[in-house]
Amino acid sequence: MTSQNTPIRAGVVGIGWAGQQHMAAYDAAPGVELVAIAGMEDDVRAELSERYGIEATYRDWESMVARGDLDVVSVAVPTFLHAPIAIGALRAGAHVLSEKPIARTGEEGQAMVDAAREAGRVLEVVFNHRRRGDIEAIAAAVEDGTVGRPYHARSMWLRRAGIPALGSWFTNAEMSGGGPLVDLGVHVLDWTLHIMGEPRVTAVSAVTHAELGPRGLGGAVGGTKSGTDSAYEVEDLASALLRLEGGGSIMLETSWATHRATPDQFGITLYGTEGGADLKVEGYAPSGELTIFTGDGEEATDTPVTAPEGRGHGAVVERFLEHVRDEASWSQHDGGVGLSRARIVDACYASARQGREVRLDENGEILGD
Ligand SMILES: NC(=O)c1ccc[n+]([C@@H]2O[C@H](COP(=O)([O-])OP(=O)(O)OC[C@H]3O[C@@H](n4cnc5c(N)ncnc54)[C@H](O)[C@@H]3O)[C@@H](O)[C@H]2O)c1
Repeated sequence: MTSQNTPIRAGVVGIGWAGQQHMAAYDAAPGVELVAIAGMEDDVRAELSERYGIEATYRDWESMVARGDLDVVSVAVPTFLHAPIAIGALRAGAHVLSEKPIARTGEEGQAMVDAAREAGRVLEVVFNHRRRGDIEAIAAAVEDGTVGRPYHARSMWLRRAGIPALGSWFTNAEMSGGGPLVDLGVHVLDWTLHIMGEPRVTAVSAVTHAELGPRGLGGAVGGTKSGTDSAYEVEDLASALLRLEGGGSIMLETSWATHRATPDQFGITLYGTEGGADLKVEGYAPSGELTIFTGDGEEATDTPVTAPEGRGHGAVVERFLEHVRDEASWSQHDGGVGLSRARIVDACYASARQGREVRLDENGEILGD
């Protein structure tokens, strides 16, 4: 079903912002037919089916997954649905590309990884930010030795008033699994660990706050997420210190709502033994302000870098399709990266709840006392 000559039959669950990125990417990919979509907004579904010439549309994910003839299924729905849809699609024989985070918790993520292994299918999680040109430029500066051994990073994604629609599923703890930490923080974690060469996280100490959201403040203007009547049940700011195997460290900070200068800013400051890097991206600029620092004392060199724009979901979907076409690689793409991120997020929430540092074992699971 996945030879180079047979078209790959794709389905997408979720027709909000994220689902529409997957659709555009499948539509643009050679050798792929976008044959099915599912989502609850009737008008949007009709418009998308017309735009992409999609033969079958569904209101609920169950009927789409029950077809059993899809080669790949993208999951772009509220986070509490990631595990049931991904597991259902994997069992029906499809390869799955799930939106981030893999799931609400590591336990749910583990069930998805188990299902991928049992089905012998690919499971991948969308980490589109690591495919940005500026993030790739920092990763390359680590890989080619320019920054030496990276030992500390300050990484953040902070919004001033960017709660993705007050009242939407994002603010409902049961549906989302958490606030900015699980939503934006998981990207921050991913690009930072990716840049630093995937060091193991051995311990975390985190705090969370919910000061603006519960008072109805900090909602994104014009937010169009699904759901309108959820209470505000999650944090609006989180901060964490992560200890890494080998002595390295990461300071992570993320917010949906805080009184601060810029409306939306993310980036990383990286310190290595031979050099460093500083990236700031404001207002979702496709290429951020990046400087690479090398040398020392009088010979210090600051090199501004204009990185090419990344291709976001387009690049992620292309890579997923490459893996789907390469049967020998399937067992390497079992969702393990997404799961490792979920376990760190779990540990951050546990640490914040307990008011102390939480240690992680070799598998990334929280160590008991
Ligand atoms: N990678 C990124 O940059 C990025 C950006 C935004 C969102 N996301 C992720 O994408 C996912 C969706 O986020 P969004 O912003 O598109 O949300 P959204 O609220 O805009 O859209 C959610 C979609 O899920 C659909 N849905 C809900 N229940 C369903 C069901 N039972 N059957 C079928 N469809 C159902 C809704 O109808 C809606 O179309 C989340 O996991 C989010 O974390 C990722």
